[in-house]
Amino acid sequence: METRVIDYFPEHYTGDAARLLAGGQLVAFPTETVYGLGANALNAEAVRQIYLTKGRPADNPLIVHIYAEEQAEQLAEVGPLARRIMQDFWPGPLTLVLPARPGILPAVTTGGLNTVGLRMPAHPAALQLLRESKLPVAAPSANLSGRPSPTEAEHVFHDLQGKIPLIINGGECLAGLESTVLDLASPVPAILRPGVITAADLADLLPGLAEQTRLPGGGIAKAPGMKYRHYAPKAKVLLCPPEQIFTTYQQCYQQLLNEGKSQPRIAVLASMQGLTGLAAAEHCFLLGENLAQVAQNLFAALRWTDEIQADLVLAERFPEQGLGIAIMNRLNKAAAEQ
Ligand code: TXA
Ligand code: MG
Repeated sequence: METRVIDYFPEHYTGDAARLLAGGQLVAFPTETVYGLGANALNAEAVRQIYLTKGRPADNPLIVHIYAEEQAEQLAEVGPLARRIMQDFWPGPLTLVLPARPGILPAVTTGGLNTVGLRMPAHPAALQLLRESKLPVAAPSANLSGRPSPTEAEHVFHDLQGKIPLIINGGECLAGLESTVLDLASPVPAILRPGVITAADLADLLPGLAEQTRLPGGGIAKAPGMKYRHYAPKAKVLLCPPEQIFTTYQQCYQQLLNEGKSQPRIAVLASMQGLTGLAAAEHCFLLGENLAQVAQNLFAALRWTDEIQADLVLAERFPEQGLGIAIMNRLNKAAAEQ
């Protein structure tokens, strides 16, 4: 299959893309978080194609994207709290897990759960596609399962070329990390996946919301996707605080030499502070000057380490506060052993 990439211009693309969705095909599209791989959420066969295309485990439910709050009411039970949160945070990078209305979405979309994750994305291309197709669109991140999520159309093309008919290029994603997943279907609301919308942002409506994905008692988080290895580049990833990057780099370099690598290639992903002491000739990726920039650049940086065929990745550890929680959640997964 030929994969077409078309640039986002309001009057150009959506006819085609919306028609493909209506016909049961997959379309990759930009959102403000990461690129999504979309299918008609009501069409079980189309949604099955998402799992096949990504190589995604079948017990990992998909987020359903919508453009209007009325659609949320059709798909899920929306209580007063959820309605308030939608008014304040949608469109935006926040997924709400709500009780699903029975018999509307196929089990393949919800991973067989009786809940559904809903989100109204803020990117104009995504909203236009949703509005023109008039469909709820199931969309995971548009990467091969296990790889870093795509934040540029080129990343999608790299992973899925030949497997999907169309990619809408809407430029670089602004947030760079996937949406915050907030569980409102359980008796106690909880963040199942941290993102750029933090517990502090939600504190007015949800005082006391736990900022961690860990469950009380240390059990696994309830977003099924959180248990899989994810975001992993080909090389092993080591995390260390900024002030130790230089010495760790030297130690690892020596160790790789001892192991017989003649010219060890260590990719360093860090803020300016973490890059202190390293020579310009080394393989460094400046993640940014603040956490928002780090979040935006992180997945591109992880993909870059594959491009330069790094032997090892050394990434800066960030303080686990605010946006740092979401960043460290992704970095810890990238660094996890298989
Ligand atoms: O920003 C995003 O959310 C992107 C863009 C494309 O919208 N999408 C995305 O989808 O990240 P995906 O499939 O890569 O991640 C969805 C996460 C998974 O961890 C999944 O387990 C969780 O949301 N999830 C979805 N539905 C759920 C449900 N009903 N209950 C609990 N967790 C759910
Ligand atoms: Mg994903």
